[in-house]
Amino acid sequence: MGIDVLLGLQWGDEGKGKIVDVLTSEYDIIARFQGGPNAGHTLEFDGIKHVLHTIPSGIFHDKSINVVGNGVVIDPIIFCKELDALKGYNLNLKDKLLISRKAHLILPTHRLLDLASEAAKGKAKIGSTLKGIGPTYMDKTGRNGLRVGDIELPDFKKRYEALVKKHLQILSFYDIEFDLKEMEKPWFKSIENLKDITFIDSDHYLHQQMKEGKKILAEGAQGSLLDIDFGTYPFVTSSTTTAAGACTGLGVAPNKIGDVLGIFKAYCTRVGSGPFPTELFDEDGAAMAKVGNEFGATTGRPRRCGWIDLPALKYAIAISGVTKLMMMKTDVLDGFDTIKACTHYIYNGKKVDNLPYAIDEELVEPVYTELKGWKKDLTKITSASELPKEVNDYIAFLEETLEVPIAIVSVGPDRKQTLHR
Ligand code: GDP
Ligand code: IMO
Ligand code: MG
Repeated sequence: MGIDVLLGLQWGDEGKGKIVDVLTSEYDIIARFQGGPNAGHTLEFDGIKHVLHTIPSGIFHDKSINVVGNGVVIDPIIFCKELDALKGYNLNLKDKLLISRKAHLILPTHRLLDLASEAAKGKAKIGSTLKGIGPTYMDKTGRNGLRVGDIELPDFKKRYEALVKKHLQILSFYDIEFDLKEMEKPWFKSIENLKDITFIDSDHYLHQQMKEGKKILAEGAQGSLLDIDFGTYPFVTSSTTTAAGACTGLGVAPNKIGDVLGIFKAYCTRVGSGPFPTELFDEDGAAMAKVGNEFGATTGRPRRCGWIDLPALKYAIAISGVTKLMMMKTDVLDGFDTIKACTHYIYNGKKVDNLPYAIDEELVEPVYTELKGWKKDLTKITSASELPKEVNDYIAFLEETLEVPIAIVSVGPDRKQTLHR
């Protein structure tokens, strides 16, 4: 049995958490493969709204096993807060939540380095979530990192101190004040608490489970346009958010990948800095932000809003080999008379439908097609057969342009507001 991958096709926050939760009943194991507490995945069911950052979004289902893969970076403090927030749900976390020994740890000094680096960039800042993601992945590729498996070694403290010494040297170049001792107290306490969770050799574990025919869903974080290689560099995150990330972040071979499920909003959002060709600065953008409640699930920052960008979506689909699409937040467009979709850009005076090397405001001008809005409340609809003609026209147009079927249409944040086609 293979492994399916679910990932965001835009700049994150497409609704991955919701859909993983909806699909978990079809899988035995949900495995996060990259990113860390920069992610905020929201789940809504039975009147409950819950945001997960590092823990996979299958955690609320009775039978599912949830694996935090080797490609993930873990802040023990945030992880333990997430565990605390789950306490009231009576979940058997010892059995159903497993952490890879090869996952890297975010240290308090990684957070300081993130802060110092962003402050030094001034106007050119990435708009990082300041969770220490970039510096932790830098230490991973620089071969300095500390991993979850190190916690079990007798010289863990020594390894920690050696890395902190390096960080303090770098931090001395920045004008930044901090009280490391105060930051370390909750960190070491959380390291102790983390030991209550089962650490595993996740690569071997997943190979074994696949041999036994178990169904696995790999849960992506962030979005394809934030990918370290293929995103809008340097305004990206520090991991591989595309399908290849599931191979390296879980130790799964490419020929074991089955379906690649790509999620996108019926419009588009971005949080943090960087180019966004279809961004709106008018009342349409404000309406999307208001109706879509577009505030970051991790930082609370307002998300920038704009129309759907099809050259960017096509690119993301090609990079990951997406086999099925899922359109989220369709209901947010309920009030619009006209829906716009960017089909091309004017780039160097020519009309192109691919994503050029740079998509900064001064380099590309989006070209739009207009479709008629549906002006109906979609949030109460319970079957795809009830969708208004105008929604079906929008879906048909997207499927024709993107050449991939749309399998799910989401019409609200709740688990139940999910239409299967
Ligand atoms: P993720 O990071 O991809 O998991 O997405 P986030 O949780 O950061 O952001 C998605 C937001 O949209 C959350 O507040 C969800 O509850 C909400 N949401 C998901 N699907 C829908 C939908 O179809 N309609 C509406 N109105 N909200 C949705
Ligand atoms: P989920 O999984 C949206 C953005 C940040 C910033 C850039 C780099 O909830 O979709 P980082 O802290 O990773 O160094 O920040 O990436 N970013 C996200 N935007 N959703 C996310 O995750 C994000 N994770 C990081 O805003 O622009
Ligand atoms: Mg999010």
